[in-house]
Amino acid sequence: MDTDINFVKSEFIERYGNHKTGLRVYFAPGRVNLIGEHTDYNGGYVFPCALNFGTYLVIRPNNTNLIRLATTNFRFSANVSVKSMEPQAKHWINYPMGVMDQLIKQGLSLEGMDMMFSGTIPNGAGLSSSASIEMVTAVALNDLLEFNLDMLDLVKLSQKAENEFVGVKCGIMDQFASGMGKKDHAVFINCKTLDYETIPVNPGDYKILITNTNKRRGLAGSKYNERRSQCEAAVKILSKTKKIKFLGDLNLKQFNKLQHLLTDEIILKRARHVVSENERVLEAIQALQSDELVTFGRLMNESHDSLRDDYEVTGIELDTLVEEARKIEGVLGSRMTGAGFGGCTVSLVHNDSLEKFTGQVGTAYKSAVGLKPDFYIAEIGDGARRLE
Ligand code: GLA
Repeated sequence: MDTDINFVKSEFIERYGNHKTGLRVYFAPGRVNLIGEHTDYNGGYVFPCALNFGTYLVIRPNNTNLIRLATTNFRFSANVSVKSMEPQAKHWINYPMGVMDQLIKQGLSLEGMDMMFSGTIPNGAGLSSSASIEMVTAVALNDLLEFNLDMLDLVKLSQKAENEFVGVKCGIMDQFASGMGKKDHAVFINCKTLDYETIPVNPGDYKILITNTNKRRGLAGSKYNERRSQCEAAVKILSKTKKIKFLGDLNLKQFNKLQHLLTDEIILKRARHVVSENERVLEAIQALQSDELVTFGRLMNESHDSLRDDYEVTGIELDTLVEEARKIEGVLGSRMTGAGFGGCTVSLVHNDSLEKFTGQVGTAYKSAVGLKPDFYIAEIGDGARRLE
């Protein structure tokens, strides 16, 4: 981590001037979701953990009326006024600007700042690089300008920034995991009440292995919003018979009694995924707490299959990775993680099988899809915070 910080600091000084005083350094992590996919915006349960990689921010007040934004990851930089924010066509600065826009809307006054961001999350991998940029901005400005907002406020306003300023109707999972994550724990979140609990993850002889499809997620945004509306359509129909606000209000038993009301096959499938996935999260947590990793792995597999068959957000890349992973002895479970349509899978792999996994899955994936996957062993880290 030290080398990362020194690198970002030197980039900061090179750009904004060579005096080292007054620099502060913040970090917000990306996340990997262990189970509970496409349930957050349905008032359901999720079980993500924060990662050791994410976004660093070196920041210093500049005593002007301008906020200067730059990153070590892209060439595009900008100076924006402390008074108001306008979305830019497709640039990374919409994430910090969206957060600043929300702060302004809450009646808080911004001050001139120089900011240098640096992300260590592979881009477009579905490991929440955007949430980590939002959260690092929110935590830094809250601290520096003494806004006294608590972490949950920062999580909520970062999600709102993404919904309103960036225009992606994401749920709250990513920002929540980035803000509330805890080393060696996953965060069990009830996305309806926003109650949460951190639960130890000690997989013993197993590792949480992330595999990146390296497929660019082209249509992800529009398909994501389409899935959301399909779930809303299901709620609209079901709520005529039973008072519900979200699909997450139904358990599987209740859903089975009502499912005949969903005459549109697509809507039925979408709803069935959400309700069954919610149950799997509860079962998975129980399994983890009783050290039943085999059961946890089976539930991961079932989650993927439901996302493939009922929610239809996987695709050849994710399905191939998962299928190949499951052929290897020592793999307890493998599933897509995040929004889908590309991005990453997460697998529970025995230490002795890691090498075989990367070799065999890598070769089979390359020959089926024509892309080279990347592998990262997930280290579960702490949530957004000041480092220096
Ligand atoms: C993306 C969104 C989250 C969540 C997942 C799917 O990561 O940002 O809010 O909906 O997809 O579980």
